[in-house]
Amino acid sequence: DCLPALLRAMPKAELHMHIEGSLEPELIFALAQRNGVQLPYADVEALRAAYAFTDLQSFLDIYYAGASVLLQEQDFYDMAMAYLQRAAADHVVRAEIFFDPQTHTERGVAMETVIHGLARACKDAQAQWGISAGLILSFLRHLSEEAAFDTLHAALPYREHFIGIGLDSSEVGNPPEKFARVFEQCKALGFHLVAHAGEEGPPAYVWSALNVLQVQRIDHGVQSEKDWDLMQRLADTRMPLTVCPLSNQKLCVFPDLRDHNLPRMLAAGLNVTVNSDDPAYFGGYVNENYLQVFAATGMGAEQAYQLARNSLEATFASPEQQALWV
Ligand code: ADE
Ligand code: ZN
Repeated sequence: DCLPALLRAMPKAELHMHIEGSLEPELIFALAQRNGVQLPYADVEALRAAYAFTDLQSFLDIYYAGASVLLQEQDFYDMAMAYLQRAAADHVVRAEIFFDPQTHTERGVAMETVIHGLARACKDAQAQWGISAGLILSFLRHLSEEAAFDTLHAALPYREHFIGIGLDSSEVGNPPEKFARVFEQCKALGFHLVAHAGEEGPPAYVWSALNVLQVQRIDHGVQSEKDWDLMQRLADTRMPLTVCPLSNQKLCVFPDLRDHNLPRMLAAGLNVTVNSDDPAYFGGYVNENYLQVFAATGMGAEQAYQLARNSLEATFASPEQQALWV
């Protein structure tokens, strides 16, 4: 059976991953040691044992604790290089990477430290492994719109280093409308726009990400299946959905991968893609997401090609950049 080989080897883009979610337990402990940060876990095994999630919030609490070891520019660089090397090995030719500056600036880390470390890794990874990467600054939706505006203004001196704006963290109770004005300003500034919507939240949040925030991709979007008019709109506009199968399984959105709606959404003509979300926490990088969702749902080579093609078409890379991958 050559399907696993095809899934591994086909060139693909990864459009939904949080760089802080690529911190492996070993690197968390190494950085804690380097920076003299005390962790509430005895060792790597104890930390890994805490990775038993029941929903999005139970994961976010541990994810923000893990990110507390990041202090110096070199820490952000090392984290991103580790991910990019791993992605290149999975035949990712283009990665669009979320980072959450508020997780770091709230601890007193300078915006410049975060962005320069990540941007230097993107540049070096391109030179070393030929992988193309772009950064997407994401606002934490559990914080205020004012905090998002402050974050945007703090990041603007470094705007040459990021291509887009995203919205993540605790979804339910923090609808897209909360960030209408800051997204309007980001659009006027020329940034690409995306938002997490319909991960745990209702189809109404996907509608407002589209109609109020005017995003160009929906991150997750799996709850859209509950609203037939929304499915029609997503199909008609070929709106990309960055779906993360192992994340959905580990956060109990679809506790059994066999029940995942990715094959149904693909068959309904939606522009779905496969991504890893937080690979160090959810049990696999992007190829593992392809392998496991294909094995569980019985999709075949035709769907593999379609998903890879979708991912490459849904990037924000310019045609000039795209010409460098082929
Ligand atoms: N931050 C990191 N991973 C996330 C996810 N899956 N949903 C919302 N916010 C996140
Ligand atoms: Zn995510």
